[in-house]
Amino acid sequence: MERVKCVICFFIVISAVEGWEKIYDADGDLPLNDFVEKLGFDGIESYYTTTEDGYIINIERIKRKGSEKMMPVIITHGMTACANTYFVNKNQSIPIVLANHNYDVWLLNARGTRKSSRHVTWNSTTDREFWMFSWQEIGLIDLPAAIDLVLEHNNHKKVILVGHSEGSTVIFVTLSDVPEYNEKVALSVHLGVSVYHKGCATIQLVTVICSMEPYLARLFDYMEWFAIFPSDHLRNVVRDLCRYTIFQGMCKEVGKILTHSDEEIEHWKDWSILGTYEMCGGSMREAYHYMQVSNSGRFARYDYGNRKNLEIYNSTEPTLFHLENVKSPVVLWCGDKDMLCTKSDLDKLTPQLTNIESTEFKGKSVFSHDEYVIGHNLDEKIYRDLFEILKKYTD
Ligand SMILES: *[C@@H]1O[C@H](CO)[C@@H](O)[C@H](O)[C@H]1NC(C)=O
Ligand SMILES: *[C@@H]1O[C@H](CO)[C@@H](O)[C@H](O)[C@H]1NC(C)=O
Ligand SMILES: *[C@@H]1O[C@H](CO)[C@@H](O)[C@H](O)[C@H]1NC(C)=O
Repeated sequence: MERVKCVICFFIVISAVEGWEKIYDADGDLPLNDFVEKLGFDGIESYYTTTEDGYIINIERIKRKGSEKMMPVIITHGMTACANTYFVNKNQSIPIVLANHNYDVWLLNARGTRKSSRHVTWNSTTDREFWMFSWQEIGLIDLPAAIDLVLEHNNHKKVILVGHSEGSTVIFVTLSDVPEYNEKVALSVHLGVSVYHKGCATIQLVTVICSMEPYLARLFDYMEWFAIFPSDHLRNVVRDLCRYTIFQGMCKEVGKILTHSDEEIEHWKDWSILGTYEMCGGSMREAYHYMQVSNSGRFARYDYGNRKNLEIYNSTEPTLFHLENVKSPVVLWCGDKDMLCTKSDLDKLTPQLTNIESTEFKGKSVFSHDEYVIGHNLDEKIYRDLFEILKKYTD
């Protein structure tokens, strides 16, 4: 790692600082509290809850007077992202727009992200046990804990959930397999719905990688690689690199691949957000679990391999999540150019659900998976329709 850093530093030095001020967005380095203050609110309130399995989970709330009387919304983030990620669009971002419409806005930082990387017994730096979770545990344990915490601090009996990508997956896990929480959820909004998906089929190289999932998991476990972006070092190196002229183009290309975006995303100048906002950490198992769903076409619990599956599930195949339990209303929206949520993925899901308020986003223009978070003109593309629906479920 040291040697890699030296090489990187060398490139930074020879490319000098030429040009980077033009794209540099200093707000990106602010702590979330200060960032939110700059957007006209009183900052962030930070809450912690300890889950039944010992993870210390951070939940953030946009601080305002009288928020306990406003309808509460909990926002759940995508894989390796976190609460911060949702603010990159500044006052066009989902939490800010919700707050401007007088919702009490809360954001979950799921286990394994920067602000939720403590445990009552395990140290996330040294103990592999800490990382033995996927989005399954986030949905079974973290989100229910967050819902309870929010309802303790708000006068309402129900919350609205808004999830993007993995944030959508975890909501479905909660509503399916901790079904009593349907009582506490007025509505869940799924942006870039993530239940069935053929993410592995998007690029041939990825298909090959996915087909090796069980071996990959074993290999990386052997190499003791359990976490995605666990270190602030790595994050800062990526951020700084993306600010230097010679790497800007590369970061932009990587950004476009990661966000599955094209021309629509040209307005993003500062791709160093990949380092500052997107790399919040997560477990490798979250990725393995998605590969399993893509490979098998089953929205099921984590596949540990035949022997352990038999022990845990009493079957060589992992148990399906009980989608038939999802009784609270859902909004299912995907971009019309969303590679991780296609029409056929939605067509497979919708017959299994009984309470659909709205399906499929009929984008007025090209709209990819991550544009819900980093897109522009979202007022017209999403928010107007979203608030029409939210109004019905707000008391
Ligand atoms: C959005 O942010 C900009 C820059 O901080 C500010 O000038 C503008 O008034 C804000 N708009 C709203 C609707 O808050
Ligand atoms: C976890 O372990 C690392 C490395 O040994 C240490 O620096 C850190 O302080 C520990 N964290 C906690 C919360 O004990
Ligand atoms: C395990 O599965 C077998 C076969 O499906 C069934 O007969 C048995 O009752 C199950 N055992 C438990 C503990 O659920």
